[in-house]
Amino acid sequence: MLRGRWQQCRALDGLLAEVRAGCSRVLVVRGEAGIGKTALLVYAAQAAHDFQVARAEGVESEMELPFAALHQLCGRMLDRLDRLPGPQRDALGVAFGLRSGGAPDRFLVGLAVLSLVSEVAAGQPLLCLVDDAQWLDQASAQALAFVARRVDAETVALLVGTRDPAGGDCLMRTPRHCWPRSCRDGSMSGSGTGSSPSPAATRWPCSNCPAG
Ligand SMILES: Nc1ncnc2c1ncn2[C@@H]1O[C@H](COP(=O)(O)OP(=O)(O)OP(=O)(O)O)[C@@H](O)[C@H]1O
Ligand SMILES: [Mg+2]
Repeated sequence: MLRGRWQQCRALDGLLAEVRAGCSRVLVVRGEAGIGKTALLVYAAQAAHDFQVARAEGVESEMELPFAALHQLCGRMLDRLDRLPGPQRDALGVAFGLRSGGAPDRFLVGLAVLSLVSEVAAGQPLLCLVDDAQWLDQASAQALAFVARRVDAETVALLVGTRDPAGGDCLMRTPRHCWPRSCRDGSMSGSGTGSSPSPAATRWPCSNCPAG
């Protein structure tokens, strides 16, 4: 157990239990450098022993490479690519350099990732860990935010770690603009640290999901 992180670990345990029960959940862990964001994602990965796990991390030197982080996340799912509807398969194939073509339609890429994680999670719950999101390339951040807003009953848990220099201690929040339909009743609002909500704590790392 991590020192002083009882509340956060219980929140993560609760989130995983809800996903096991048939929901999808999205949670952002925010805070300053070295405060323990990655440690909490590692805790979640260990607690999710019965989940499949997909990982990606933002890399500062890859911020200018479109879809670099998404490729990390989806790399081991690509054997399911053929099960996607043609336009989605083609868009993701182009994004990942598996087929030639012009710049892929971002909407189709988002749909393709949603379809892919749904397909993978159909057999066993899926935990997607995205760390250092402050360094995601913009195309990946956009696609991930698209997916986060739409997951519903796929049994997908999406956990995002991101630096917030002004954030102080770790804040865990379901980003309001990314809430999936099944969570809009506010059932996830108690999954954080128990501190009062702050606008900064609801910001998704993607500009498509503004503070609220
Ligand atoms: N609650 C804790 N109990 C014990 N060790 C911890 C705890 N939280 C973090 N650590 C340790 O502190 C160090 C920094 O933690 P971590 O890497 O998780 O920070 P971070 O917030 O992800 O930082 P960065 O923003 O640089 O990615 C690591 O060695 C980690 O194991
Ligand atoms: Mg970290």
